Amino acid sequence: MVCWSVVVWCLRLMGNLLKVLACSELEHGPIVFLDFEHAQPTEAETAVWNQVSAVLEEAHGILAELQSYNGAGQEIREAIQNPGDLQLQEKAWNAVCPLVAKLKRFYEFSLRLENALRSLLEALTSPPYAPMQHLEREQALAKQFAEILHFTLSFDELKMTNPAIQNDFSYYRRTISRNRLNNQQLEAENEVNNEMANRMSLFYAEATPMLKTLSNATTKFVSENKTLPIEDTTDCLSTMACVCRVMLETPEYRCRFTNTDTMLFCMRVMVGVIILYDHVHPVGAFAKTSKIDMKGCIKVLKEQPSNSVEGLLNALRYTTRHLNDDSTSKQIRALLQ
Ligand SMILES: *[C@@H]1O[C@H](CO)[C@@H](O)[C@H](O)[C@H]1NC(C)=O
Ligand SMILES: *[C@@H]1O[C@H](CO)[C@@H](O)[C@H](O)[C@H]1NC(C)=O
Repeated sequence: MVCWSVVVWCLRLMGNLLKVLACSELEHGPIVFLDFEHAQPTEAETAVWNQVSAVLEEAHGILAELQSYNGAGQEIREAIQNPGDLQLQEKAWNAVCPLVAKLKRFYEFSLRLENALRSLLEALTSPPYAPMQHLEREQALAKQFAEILHFTLSFDELKMTNPAIQNDFSYYRRTISRNRLNNQQLEAENEVNNEMANRMSLFYAEATPMLKTLSNATTKFVSENKTLPIEDTTDCLSTMACVCRVMLETPEYRCRFTNTDTMLFCMRVMVGVIILYDHVHPVGAFAKTSKIDMKGCIKVLKEQPSNSVEGLLNALRYTTRHLNDDSTSKQIRALLQ
């Protein structure tokens, strides 16, 4: 991806410069284009890279499956409107079961993604290197991290615009509990047992379930690992946000983006790391002390000619933790109104 050659270049440049320079100064630095498009994992990265790669390989298929998820709205409606018609009940049930199996696959994938993220966080924050050195040394892992975020935001966008998912799933649960009352054994209960159904319903009840999974996992990673300063994790996130913002707002980089997918990629990664940062950092992304230039990020998002902008702004509005804190400036709040 073109985007990546630029990201990786930025990361490398920052790795060299950021020991002395802040990210904002980088914007005025020289523009050099180095082609790191095919960043290959180094030997030290290989083990983690392979593990994450196996998960990412499935991501595309999951998105395609979600994209073509049509739901059983009609069958369910007919069954509900004709409660006495057993044939329609059966038809709805038969339509819903394979869909629930799909939803279970998505949910299980979120668990694998969570593990992958954890491995990346471990690798990208392990001593003795500073966060910036990690991003410089482990560019292939940084790239995978961005790919995970890209997948996550894409998944959640699709989920948010597809009400059939929750409709199907709640019909499924209602049917199961009704049948349980009637002491009917259902073979599908083997597919999704009650405990799994409970966990799945918590997952799908989230507006942005994948992002929530990742932010929960990141929070957990930071809180479990007492020896690791929180800043090591949050600096890794704020640096990535900065790289994405600079790429989106600098015409010299933007003109290298040959297609809108690449822009979208950068936008999603930026929003993803902002949200993670906001959940993990004690004062969040919107405070004055935040290492993320929120004003700049929101402005550059709003300038993009993409249909996805509104969804991403909504993600910032509704899935962050600290936006409504007193410490958030009025200006930032107004930008997001
Ligand atoms: C804490 O982080 C370090 C560095 O990433 C890692 O080596 C260690 O296993 C982690 N400990 C726990 C309890 O996660
Ligand atoms: C995230 O964590 C909260 C609090 O522990 C929990 O209620 C929620 O279900 C979790 N969400 C996901 C998607 O894991």
